[in-house]
Amino acid sequence: MPSEVRGVVARAKGAPVTVETVVVPDPGPGEALVKVQACGVCHTDLHYREGGIGDDYPYLLGHEAAGIVEAVGDGVTRIAPGDYVVLNWRAVCGECRSCRRGRPWYCFATHNARQPMTLTDGTTLSPALGIGAFAEKTLVAAGQCTKVDPAAPPAVAGLLGCGVMAGIGAAVNTGGVGRGDSVAVFGCGGVGDAAIAGAVLAGATTVVAVDINDGKLELARQFGATHTVNSREQDPVEAIRALTGGNGADVTIDAVGRPEVFTQAFYARDHAGTVVLVGVPTPDMTLELPMLEVFGRGGAVKSSWYGDCLPERDFPTLIDLFLQGRLPLDRFVSETIGIDDVEAAFGRMEQGGVLRSVVLFD
Ligand code: APR
Ligand code: ZN
Ligand code: ZN
Repeated sequence: MPSEVRGVVARAKGAPVTVETVVVPDPGPGEALVKVQACGVCHTDLHYREGGIGDDYPYLLGHEAAGIVEAVGDGVTRIAPGDYVVLNWRAVCGECRSCRRGRPWYCFATHNARQPMTLTDGTTLSPALGIGAFAEKTLVAAGQCTKVDPAAPPAVAGLLGCGVMAGIGAAVNTGGVGRGDSVAVFGCGGVGDAAIAGAVLAGATTVVAVDINDGKLELARQFGATHTVNSREQDPVEAIRALTGGNGADVTIDAVGRPEVFTQAFYARDHAGTVVLVGVPTPDMTLELPMLEVFGRGGAVKSSWYGDCLPERDFPTLIDLFLQGRLPLDRFVSETIGIDDVEAAFGRMEQGGVLRSVVLFD
């Protein structure tokens, strides 16, 4: 029997989101039905509502979620009803050219549920990032569910499903931050602060946070930044060089995704250092750099998709580190809200007052 649940739907470009009845099918082969316990509000949800990602309205929003597996379809063996899972939006296929070359984090054929969730009139919903978890239940591919230690509260665990994982992974997986490294992170929202926490975890000893908002810089210190730079008041490239013996940082991370910020990150790294782009640019943005600088500075210019994460490897590890008191994941939860409050949370997000609002379900 399909379930009827409440879910947050974006019906048209720019229109406020509404809470609607969503019909969720029973899981078919390879699928899992998940009772959502918590789901964070991410910028990507707002981008869907604003038409920045596509025109496949109506969208069922929400994708940073944790919950309990309620039922699984035929052929699903790795998870079972009752399992506590974090959802991911890159369930790797194991068969594409990237997976076969041993680089599954670049998988080109990630899995989602095959059956659609719908409105009660039969209209097909497009689930955000193939998840759609601002709903009491959601249908996903079984590979989108990663089991983690149930001792971690859902509001905390769910955040690994997107922005926090992207930030930690940008530092640890993409940037390869190591013991004694110096790191500079540009943009101290949820993604940037997660990059800071990841850099600290990996053993960085100098961690410079750059932002244009002093409140954000204060927060960045709580995640382990050793120095802060307000780039409205100070040239961040010069400031970072001064803090690193005149050299620049070993790894710099752009967690904003704007050409001027990327350019600062490019120049703020040491020779042969690594610059990582994890903030997501918009289609109108272009970058101009002297080619001789790209050549002459050596090192690596990398982008980080979803923190180059492997959910099966990274989610349980990061949850364990949180439970050991070594990774302050709970600090990313600025507030918990109800399913009816998502539109208001978008407003607070645009004002920059929160790292993450998290919807809690009963
Ligand atoms: N220089 C430095 N910091 C900046 C600048 C700038 N020019 N412009 C904005 N910022 C800061 C903001 O003050 C804020 O603290 O960047 C931070 C961005 O944080 P959020 O808006 O909370 O965004 P976040 O969720 O961290 O995501 C960052 O990653 O996933 C992508 O789409 C997302 O591109 C976005 C980026
Ligand atoms: Zn693949
Ligand atoms: Zn997200």
